[in-house]
Amino acid sequence: MGTVFVSSPLPGDAVERLAREHSVAVGAPHVGVRGEAFAARAGALDAIVTLLTDRVDGALLARTPRLQIVANVAVGVDNVDLEACHARGIAVTNTPGVLTEATADLAFGLLLAAARRITEGDRLVRAGAFVGWTPTLLLGTRVHGATLGLVGLGRIGQAAARRARGFGMKVLYAKRTPLAPETERALCVTRVALDDLFAASDFVSLHCPLTPETRHLVNADRLAHMRPGSVLVNTARGGCVDEAALADALDGGPLGAAGLDVFEDEPRVHPGLLARENVVLAPHIGSADRPTREAMARIAVDNVLAVLAGRPAATPVE
Ligand code: DGY
Repeated sequence: MGTVFVSSPLPGDAVERLAREHSVAVGAPHVGVRGEAFAARAGALDAIVTLLTDRVDGALLARTPRLQIVANVAVGVDNVDLEACHARGIAVTNTPGVLTEATADLAFGLLLAAARRITEGDRLVRAGAFVGWTPTLLLGTRVHGATLGLVGLGRIGQAAARRARGFGMKVLYAKRTPLAPETERALCVTRVALDDLFAASDFVSLHCPLTPETRHLVNADRLAHMRPGSVLVNTARGGCVDEAALADALDGGPLGAAGLDVFEDEPRVHPGLLARENVVLAPHIGSADRPTREAMARIAVDNVLAVLAGRPAATPVE
């Protein structure tokens, strides 16, 4: 029997399954590996199930000498020092595949809400300020037939491209490695250079991981070259966007609006974004439909069960 720390309660029965075979402690929400429950057990832990809000670095690993696996309940692993884990022979796993459609759904939800000013309209109605239909009320940006630029075209980017077809959109993408020509044809997407994508798109949606290369990929310069009235959507990682530059671009243009599910320093949101009407804000809920979150928990737990039984993890991150 191994000793496992699960950062926070998880949806579904995954933690129960884990507890049938191992000694399991569950941390408090918003506390995770920073709390007393973790500190008290660190030296004895064989496995940890982490959230994207848990930092797994050399300092944590120094306290967990028995650790065999870090099972992150997320597809992104920017919270984990992979090099430090691998140097100690610790497996790192993520939850790819299961959150693809949910995250693409939310990206489109934010795109539509920002373009068509849905949350502004909601606030107006609730404030009792809807006094009747007028031809000029809350005029927004046209989605149908517009050009969508996708930064990154992995699983989630491709799911966004499929949705864009339903809206008659032209889809550009920027990615270090081009897709195979038959995949490009099937998705009806055209690869362009990153700077050209920003200049040519009515909507830009981010679907890349956060790495040293993608940090502040959306910066003042790229924002300045976007089309007048264009819309930025981010369901990837907040660090991909320079939020101070974004707030300025929303004030002074050319950007027209933004839809954001992720922030540079969560849960803090830049005050310049909170203050603006033309920003739709969501609390990092891209993968938050019930079946998706249950599947993420299931994958993380299955990886722990496998590694502690001496089998390879199903979704290792190399
Ligand atoms: C992930 O898996 O990386 C997402 O951000 C969680 O919704």
